[in-house]
Formats: sequence, C-alpha cells, structure tokens
Amino acid sequence: MIQLSTSVYLLGGLLGLCLLEPVLTALTPASMCTPLKTLNDSLSHRRRYMKHNFPINYSIRVHQKEIFKLSNIRRMKLQVEGLDELVLQRLWFQVNQGVLKKIIRMMAERHPSRPYTAELERRFRDAEGVFVESHPTEVFQKELPETIQDIWDCLTEEPERVPETSWKFATPKSLLDNFCQTMYCLFSDCFASGGTQQDYCGVFHRKKGRKKDES
Ligand SMILES: *[C@@H]1O[C@H](CO)[C@@H](O)[C@H](O)[C@H]1NC(C)=O
Ligand SMILES: *[C@@H]1O[C@H](CO)[C@@H](O)[C@H](O)[C@H]1NC(C)=O
Repeated sequence: MIQLSTSVYLLGGLLGLCLLEPVLTALTPASMCTPLKTLNDSLSHRRRYMKHNFPINYSIRVHQKEIFKLSNIRRMKLQVEGLDELVLQRLWFQVNQGVLKKIIRMMAERHPSRPYTAELERRFRDAEGVFVESHPTEVFQKELPETIQDIWDCLTEEPERVPETSWKFATPKSLLDNFCQTMYCLFSDCFASGGTQQDYCGVFHRKKGRKKDES
C-alpha cells in the first residue's frame, strides 16, 4: 500500500503533476488518528496554558530548526523532489520531541502549566508509539534525503556544539501553534472535516477564530 502510493507519488513528481500532490500523499494509517485527535484536544488549550501562565512575551531558546512552520514544509517540498510525506512526519516527531523537552525544562516544578505540558508530552509519545508501530522498521532505517538529513543532524546535535547563531528565541505559545498547524498539514487525513479535505498545508490557511489567537 505504502509502496504503491510512493511509486504513484514519484510518477506524479516526474510528470510534474504537483497539483495532485495532496491527493497522492494520503499515507497516514488510520490507527494514527485516535492518538493525534487526543493530542489535538490537548493542543486546543494551548492559549490558556502556554500564554496566560507566562509573563508577556516570555520566550525560550530553541534551535532555529525547531521553529518548524508550514512555510518550512513548503520549502522542503520544493527543495527535495518527490519528498515522501513519511519523511516529513518523522521529522515532525523529531522536532516536536525537542520542543516539548525544552518547554518542560524551563518550567519550575510547581509551574501551573506543568501538569498540562506533561500530559501533552505523554499524548505526543503515545502518538509516536503508534506511528512507529504502524510502519515497517525498514521505513525508519531508510536513508533520508540530504537536505532532511542536514536538518536532522542539527536537531540531534549536542547543545554545546550548536553554534550561537543557530539559537533563536520563541514563545512557548508560538512553538505550540507551529506544532499544531504542521500536525494538521502532515496528518491531514485525520483532520478532514465534513468529508472534505481541507488544505491544512496552505500557508494562508486560517483556523476559525485563529486571528485573536496570534501573537
Ligand atoms: C482540534 O480539537 C479542537 C477541540 O477539541 C476542535 O475544536 C478542532 O476542530 C480540532 N481540530 C481539527 C482540525 O480537527
Ligand atoms: C511584546 O512583543 C510585542 C511584539 O514584538 C511588542 O509590540 C510588545 O511591546 C511586547 N510587550 C512587552 C510587554 O514587552
């Protein structure tokens, strides 16, 4: 099933049928949807826990590659021909594992958002567990395209070896906004509403009421 979709995808790429891309990348196993929706339920409270409980504009230091937005996904798709959606999903897990770790690490033991974040991380790990289980092991051993491998190497670099210029500051809320939007994009099969596939990967996609959620 996966192999078939992949070859169809490659063929599509060869023919330059970029417009068919959203249809051809329907690769998310159905078993992923339950844990991802549970994760989404948690994420829907992010404004309260990741903004209101912090000083205004409070930001934490993350690797620049951990600021992982829809625009980054777009760019990678343009840079790497025939990029497999599964590779991006793996990268998504890698990025957000680091993001959650950093958010938790900066919170004091008694911080009011700590239980929320711990729960979020638990749900994230559950989703990751199902993700790993629902694909053959070979998938995770496959060599990554060079561009993606470079990003991966940056993410797994020991913190003391990361050059100063690669660190950026971001608010916990903005990190979770990215987390959420990229999840809708990369696992859009699970988030189709009313039977219609929305383009969650569009940079201009706006969730209803998101405007006031920004900043
Ligand atoms: C995510 O969860 C929230 C709250 O449960 C829900 O309102 C929203 O529609 C969900 N998002 C998607 C894309 O399913
Ligand atoms: C927070 O950041 C915004 C945008 O960068 C800025 O306009 C605002 O003055 C900042 N507020 C405080 C209290 O620092």
